[in-house]
Amino acid sequence: MNRRDLLTLLGIGACSFAGVVLPPAAPGRAAGPKAGAAPTPASPFPTVPTPLPVPSDGLDAAEQRRRYARIEVEDRLVLPDGFRADLLAVWGDPLADGRFGYNNDHLSFLSLAPDRALLTVNFEYISARAWRQGYAEAVGGEVPFDAVIEALAPRGGRVDAASLAADDPLLATIRQLAEAAMADLGVGVIELERQPDGPWRRRPGRFDRRITGLSGWRDPARRLRSSGPAAAVFRRRQRLGYDDGLGDAIIGSFANCAGGETPWGTVLSAEENMQSQVPEAVHADGSSVSPAARPFAYDGQRLDGLGNPFGLAGNKYGWMVELDPRLPERPAVKHSWLGRFRHEAVAVKALAGQPLIVYSGCDRHGGHLYRFVSDALIRDPANPANSELFSAGRLEVARFDPPSAKGGGGRGRWLPLEPSTPVAPLGPGHFARFRVEQAVLLPHSDRRRPGAEAFASDAAVAAYRRRFATLADLYPGEGEERMGAILIDAHLAACAIGATPAARPEDTVIDPLSGDLLIAFTAGGGSDDGRADPAIFHGPKGQATWPYGWIMGLADDGAARGGSFRWRMVSTGGAPWQGGMGFANPDNLAIDRQGTIWMVTDRSTRSADLDLFGNNSCWVLPSRGPHAGEAFCFATGPMECELTGPCFDDGESTLFLAVQHPGEDNGTRPSPEAREAQAHRLVDRSGRPFEQLRWVPLGSNWPSGVPGRAPRPGVVAIRRLAGGPLLADQAVPASRERSI
Ligand code: FEO
Ligand code: CA
Ligand code: CA
Repeated sequence: MNRRDLLTLLGIGACSFAGVVLPPAAPGRAAGPKAGAAPTPASPFPTVPTPLPVPSDGLDAAEQRRRYARIEVEDRLVLPDGFRADLLAVWGDPLADGRFGYNNDHLSFLSLAPDRALLTVNFEYISARAWRQGYAEAVGGEVPFDAVIEALAPRGGRVDAASLAADDPLLATIRQLAEAAMADLGVGVIELERQPDGPWRRRPGRFDRRITGLSGWRDPARRLRSSGPAAAVFRRRQRLGYDDGLGDAIIGSFANCAGGETPWGTVLSAEENMQSQVPEAVHADGSSVSPAARPFAYDGQRLDGLGNPFGLAGNKYGWMVELDPRLPERPAVKHSWLGRFRHEAVAVKALAGQPLIVYSGCDRHGGHLYRFVSDALIRDPANPANSELFSAGRLEVARFDPPSAKGGGGRGRWLPLEPSTPVAPLGPGHFARFRVEQAVLLPHSDRRRPGAEAFASDAAVAAYRRRFATLADLYPGEGEERMGAILIDAHLAACAIGATPAARPEDTVIDPLSGDLLIAFTAGGGSDDGRADPAIFHGPKGQATWPYGWIMGLADDGAARGGSFRWRMVSTGGAPWQGGMGFANPDNLAIDRQGTIWMVTDRSTRSADLDLFGNNSCWVLPSRGPHAGEAFCFATGPMECELTGPCFDDGESTLFLAVQHPGEDNGTRPSPEAREAQAHRLVDRSGRPFEQLRWVPLGSNWPSGVPGRAPRPGVVAIRRLAGGPLLADQAVPASRERSI
């Protein structure tokens, strides 16, 4: 919609639009959908209104045009009538000897008794603006924000702090700020207690625990451990690159995004975007490049390179971390057989008499889907000794075959990441068939140089293959050290053997009824990192770029080396009139005992192209029964946040959700007048286009709801007011509670 159209919608003759906060509408003018829309007869709960027409809204075409002509977005967690959310914990709450961290993501519920449980929480990254605005209220104490900004301004907002003299006052100032940030990252465990009337509440206790981004920096006893072949690389004295001097011990964990649980009660925490804090590139022997390659950077709007002031080695981050929330004294372990890449999440398949199989995706454009298969077989899935299964096995990566001509799904196979696997990368010509220009990243052909090299032609890729026949030719050394180097450089090694570049694989979960794997692919398209294979990941009309995502089902044919699988898309993101289901960018998944998928979205709040889909949200997708194949909106989040980490208590009467990065773009919302008008062109269910005026708050005050107060990430527990299972077939109570 152009500017004139918007002004017509607004009833304004002439004014500047771009970036202007327009005055609020007169009371009573709002005609848009707000919380409290009547339940549609066909929906399993009274669905939450969406900002665009969806098949499940129960409206005919004329009603859709009327209902969606003008809407007002709210800065709160909107839930269906009959449900409420209680805030369990919020950034800054005391936790063990530290605090409840920032940007909570994955949540893992572990029952200790009917009325006692542990919730393990990931703290992923810092949203620099909102973090600073909220710091005094959430944490208190002095952090030299302005001093660092001033000192770094002449240096372009960044500095290699590791190269500063030990007595340079700037190093101490930077470390003070970086330590404050690292104290807000990592993993936490909180104890919960169920109240007599049903809801869960926090009850600080002996299991409360914090692993931060710097655990072990001051106290070596708190360092993390490593398992598998990469530990041999960490211990090596002779190396091409940087040595942190710590051997196979590791300081801290950060970039903890999603995760999963094992049947023996441990939690797996996935280190995702470590490249923002430490260098990602490694040498051929798996050793890190210098910390100088990712300098510390802070200008008030961005904060990264947090590993630099402490000399952290990049090859020790980007792993899957296992911790036992019942054993606070036991160090967490980074399991290197699961590979080093931008781990988003994990799904564990543990059946007696079978090897342990662990799936995980690498969330980047062109990232891959992996599985680990243990050498040893499982006897008892609940035996805590099963953690040993992570110490020997193999890592494999998925190669998807295109769907059959009839459409639907296709087949694929697993490629082992081991020295004897042939080098057989996809060439740029493959993308050219879809009229997409895409260079291919491979381990650098000059093996004295770390990281990747871009190849822009099939001829160059063919020459590369003539030079490097197998992974053994790319990764020198013997035994564990060579295997460790391959695992440390898993993403580029996977590119080299021809793994399918995928559409940002995010969460992975196992359907408890079918045993199949479900994978959320957030977005198809490309970036400097790579590009999803358009032969597999394309839009409903064959579009080579489809930025709205999918959920895929994958049925594994077994654990055999190089085994096969079948796949098919079970849900497609996008607007209904484009062939999508009304949501965009599926991220975390949870699946209940009925096989119903609970999915949260991760629409980039910085992408105007995706504004159509509004605030990030939570959807319910029944896979069986009369609603199979439909999507119902269960919740929409406050402004500029993601809803993350969906998980249930044992009775599935509580849904735990994390509200991550509220106010990420605009920070604190100063007043109710801080909002903007957006114009969208929508299409009703009859295919007729119409226009929408949408009022969108700028910034957030969640959870306080008080204008001028800074937003803070936090975790909520959602339940029915009437009690009982979340999706029980119960009448909606007449009373309506306004959620936070
Ligand atoms: Fe941390 Fe890919 O989400
Ligand atoms: Ca995520
Ligand atoms: Ca995310």
